[in-house]
Amino acid sequence: MCGITGYVGGEDSGEIVHEGLKNLEYRGYDSAGVALGGETIQVHKREGEVSELEFPETSGHTVGIGHTRWSTHGEPTQENAHPHTDCRDEIAVVHNGIIENYEELKEELQAAHFFESETDTEVVPHLLEDELDDDVSLRAAVHRVVQRLEGSFALAVTAAGHDGIVVAREDSPLVIGYGENEHFVASDVTAFAEHTREVSFLENGDIALITNDSVTIHNDGSVVERPVETVEWDATAAEKGGYEHYMLKEIHEQPQALRQTLSGRIDDLSGDVTLDIDLPEPYLQSLEEIQIVACGTSYHAGLYVRDLLEQYADIRVSVELASEYDFRGGRDPWRTLVVAITQSGETADTLSALREANRSGARTLALTNTVGSTVTRDADATLYIRAGPEIGVAATKTFVSQVATATLFTVYLARVRGAMSVSQASEILESLNALPGAVQQVLDNNDHIEAVANEYADSRSFFYIGRASGYSVALESALKLKEISYDHAEGFAAGELKHGPLALVDEDTPVIALLTDHAASSETVNSVKEVKSRGAPVIGVSSDIETTSLVDEQFDVADIGPMEPVVANVALQLFAYHVANEKGRSIDKPRNLAKSVTVE
Ligand code: G6P
Repeated sequence: MCGITGYVGGEDSGEIVHEGLKNLEYRGYDSAGVALGGETIQVHKREGEVSELEFPETSGHTVGIGHTRWSTHGEPTQENAHPHTDCRDEIAVVHNGIIENYEELKEELQAAHFFESETDTEVVPHLLEDELDDDVSLRAAVHRVVQRLEGSFALAVTAAGHDGIVVAREDSPLVIGYGENEHFVASDVTAFAEHTREVSFLENGDIALITNDSVTIHNDGSVVERPVETVEWDATAAEKGGYEHYMLKEIHEQPQALRQTLSGRIDDLSGDVTLDIDLPEPYLQSLEEIQIVACGTSYHAGLYVRDLLEQYADIRVSVELASEYDFRGGRDPWRTLVVAITQSGETADTLSALREANRSGARTLALTNTVGSTVTRDADATLYIRAGPEIGVAATKTFVSQVATATLFTVYLARVRGAMSVSQASEILESLNALPGAVQQVLDNNDHIEAVANEYADSRSFFYIGRASGYSVALESALKLKEISYDHAEGFAAGELKHGPLALVDEDTPVIALLTDHAASSETVNSVKEVKSRGAPVIGVSSDIETTSLVDEQFDVADIGPMEPVVANVALQLFAYHVANEKGRSIDKPRNLAKSVTVE
């Protein structure tokens, strides 16, 4: 939610910052801007996407900061776009996060300062203006100002006549990139990965002065070192590679993403899973409860594995929306593991739930795609899903990799707890191993799925029904369609349909039924009959040929055991994609949404 980036070095900063913003656009895309620094400050900003931002191609400036916005305070207008400046246009600030006490600060500043926007951010350049009047360094001024801010922020500041960029981090991510006589800073490595992969992640409370030849980080008044790490990054993986949209490319990358997720983690012979998790075995053996906390698609991945965990690892499992999470009394924190599932590792609601779990004394495990993200630092242990970069706002490959990783964790835990036999483990591991091939078969069936999607693209409301893990896939598939097509789509537990939602079903309501064996298809068949008799067209996703006579259209998936509903999900990702494409929607950047939601 909002992306910030900055550059200091020998090259023209405008072009580099602009490129960086394009790479960060998945974080927000309703307005964008840059400030080119040095002896003077030049600001260019506007409402709309990063590509619409215009400024002189060669600016001659070698310092720059930039921002792509997902509005929270104030509409997406030019005035509210970042960077924000002080009264003299000598200080420019970009910000990701929320300054909770901005109203008080604004009231105090308004007597002597002129405000142009409705944003919380604009208090920062005005506070800095007062501090710099005391003739202190820019770093010292930022240090004084952040003492006064409440909330979460990643800030980047440049000021006329001051060297480089000063950045500050409090609960919103910031990563510094090290080049030769040049440095980068951004919310995410994606912004500058094509220039350098040597990075260091800032910690809460860090304030860094970044110039072309040095990076000095202070925390609580003292100089601190943050380790410089080399991130693995395939730059082409973050490009569209000939596909019309990132989402379509990422859907097609799923066989490969799943291979990466599984690689080196399964021992077929022993039925064992090797995971590098820093949680002691005696602790895992003594566990009584797992609470999974997550949002959006990641929440659906949690729902998917709940039954597997309960069934095989002999443990009580709850899956909670992170924004509703509360570590309720009556639970034994010492025997509770809280698992945060978050592809970005930066979702504010999930981080807040994780911190509450930490405070309550429970141990915490993060399942994430993003190396070095905040969740990896806040959790006791981390398990990477290894899906590779995902740019499209609608999560696809990260969902299947989350489910696969959480299933590996299920087998690992069940084996450590002595709750699962080798043959039970083998059944699940075989199903996991079969996933990449089964997903490829669905992708090969794209033309049929596209034809069906085009046929139903005019419908205004879609119902998805399923049972067991098929229910979580129904929820996820409905979310995918609503996110990118803007049509009403809702997932239901198939058995619940008759308890209310059936009243809404008529011949204009396509019902998509998850009829894979492991989604308890025989019972779902009854629900299909109920909607058919109300005239609804039914699209079945099934590995069971018998259902063809029941449904109007069928997407076939291979019969691969417990992972079958994941394969069904891939068919429905393609269905959602083609419905949205037929309508000409902005698929990679759906309206009002952002990939990484860093506000609660
Ligand atoms: C946003 C995205 C969703 C995503 C959710 C959780 O709402 O638009 O696609 O599922 O955040 O994201 P996370 O990074 O925590 O998995």
